[in-house]
Amino acid sequence: MTDAANPYLPLAATVVEVVDETPAIKTLRMTLDDPAARAAFTYRPGQVVQLSVYGVGEATFVLNSTPTRPEFLQCSVMRAGEVTEALHALRTGDQVGLRGPLGNAFPLDALRGRDVLLVAGGIGMAPLRTLLLYMLDNRADFGTIRLLYGARGPRDMAYGAELEQWAAAPGLELTLTVDAPDPGWPHRTGLIPNVLRELAPSPEGAVAVTCGPPIMIRFTVQALRELGFADAAIVTTLERRMKCGIGLCGRCNIGPRYVCVDGPVFTMAELGELPAEL
Ligand SMILES: Cc1cc2nc3c(=O)[nH]c(=O)nc-3n(C[C@H](O)[C@H](O)[C@H](O)COP(=O)(O)OP(=O)(O)OC[C@H]3O[C@@H](n4cnc5c(N)ncnc54)[C@H](O)[C@@H]3O)c2cc1C
Ligand code: FES
Repeated sequence: MTDAANPYLPLAATVVEVVDETPAIKTLRMTLDDPAARAAFTYRPGQVVQLSVYGVGEATFVLNSTPTRPEFLQCSVMRAGEVTEALHALRTGDQVGLRGPLGNAFPLDALRGRDVLLVAGGIGMAPLRTLLLYMLDNRADFGTIRLLYGARGPRDMAYGAELEQWAAAPGLELTLTVDAPDPGWPHRTGLIPNVLRELAPSPEGAVAVTCGPPIMIRFTVQALRELGFADAAIVTTLERRMKCGIGLCGRCNIGPRYVCVDGPVFTMAELGELPAEL
């Protein structure tokens, strides 16, 4: 929901809660200040917003809350540079600007009735969180949900408080892995693509959705193909740097496609190949 007269104008929002997820990731829960804007704001899992800190700048984040739980809008922010640093400094009651929702969304119609394999690395769990919660809130529409979530170490794993709930959810198979375990780490150790090969989920009637750092996506897609997943059944999100978010500035294009309008969600069949720089 952007201002039709000026699509660059953000909506005013207030931070209602800050969650420290990991040393590098904070989650911001926000509500729009204007009651009419709050009531009118709708989004689909996978869509992004531009969050702005007044006087600092604007950056892109996926909404990792779910439209099925409309109490607040949520973004998880990994510290990277100036804007994310300023977002990390926000406290409950502080104001942010919010522009969106922008871009496309996960192809829910293609996922309904299928088994869904989610493969997340690091902050890549953020976009998959919204999809996971949406599927849990519409459980009968989807088959078995498998989530493979990896991080560098146990303390780099976001959404710690929710992992136990997810592990207990009916029809959800959760596998956690880290590159470098602490003593007593009860889950897997190993890189995500290798653990994926060990788990060997069947591609029969299944769709895989993977998000994470580019190098992880590259090797995960390779593993999925080895397991027999067709490119049309592999969905990913591209984190191309964006500026306008509305197809005007030309900052985010891959060939003829704008990630901010045509994406950020694509199937591997749509991409053909991952862009060389990923
Ligand atoms: C569609 C999309 C969804 C995103 N969702 C999230 C999210 O949910 N949570 C989250 O923490 N981050 C997300 N990002 C990345 C986030 O937008 C950047 O980290 C942020 O813009 C960095 O801004 P900054 O001013 O703090 O750092 P900058 O000073 O702009 O950059 C710091 C460093 O990060 C690199 N960088 C910045 N943006 C990107 C990018 N898009 N891709 C790769 N490298 C980048 C820069 O090259 C530089 O090395 C998303 C990006 C896109 C395009
Ligand atoms: S960010 Fe401006 S065209 Fe996509």
